[in-house]
Amino acid sequence: MDPIFKRVSIRRFTEEPVNDETIRQIIRAGMAAPSSKNQRPWEFYVVRDRQILEDLAKCSPFGIPIRNAQVAIAVCYRNKDLKEPEMVLLDMSCCCENMLLEAAELGLGSVWISFAPRKQRSEPAEKVLHLPEHLNLFTVLPVGHPMGNIKQLDRFEEERIHWPE
Ligand SMILES: Cc1cc2nc3c(=O)[nH]c(=O)nc-3n(C[C@H](O)[C@H](O)[C@H](O)COP(=O)(O)O)c2cc1C
Repeated sequence: MDPIFKRVSIRRFTEEPVNDETIRQIIRAGMAAPSSKNQRPWEFYVVRDRQILEDLAKCSPFGIPIRNAQVAIAVCYRNKDLKEPEMVLLDMSCCCENMLLEAAELGLGSVWISFAPRKQRSEPAEKVLHLPEHLNLFTVLPVGHPMGNIKQLDRFEEERIHWPE
């Protein structure tokens, strides 16, 4: 699959806008992810407001890419009425990987800015977003047209593959 082998984390973006339909397509890819018992715990907040982007960026020591973007997707999860609550962060990881791959497929860049499971980052960011009680922030994915042309390095390591007989 081509996007797997071309995706890299992008932290700097041009000013070229990304329209709502493109953002919707990236979220559609997230919603196509597998999840435990198909519980699909995700909810998405699309942030374009410059002040909110700045405030979210300040909630993580690694948040600068959020400030560099025109738009970011705050990927959230439900904390109530889940079939498999202990699986929720795994479900969300699958969702985010799909979104990163779809962004790459569309010629866009993104990067996983981690919030969960670190409450010291997620709780202030949840306040910035005014999330309702039943939602928590998982990660923020800034999205944009990549600045520069970063190529993926081949990370294949044959010695990590074991073939027990
Ligand atoms: C769980 C997770 C958390 C991450 N958190 C951050 C982050 O907070 N800030 C950041 O700039 N990159 C973050 N990254 C991106 C990684 O640094 C990046 O994926 C890794 O260095 C490999 O580079 P690549 O994505 O270009 O292949 C995160 C990635 C994952 C999977």
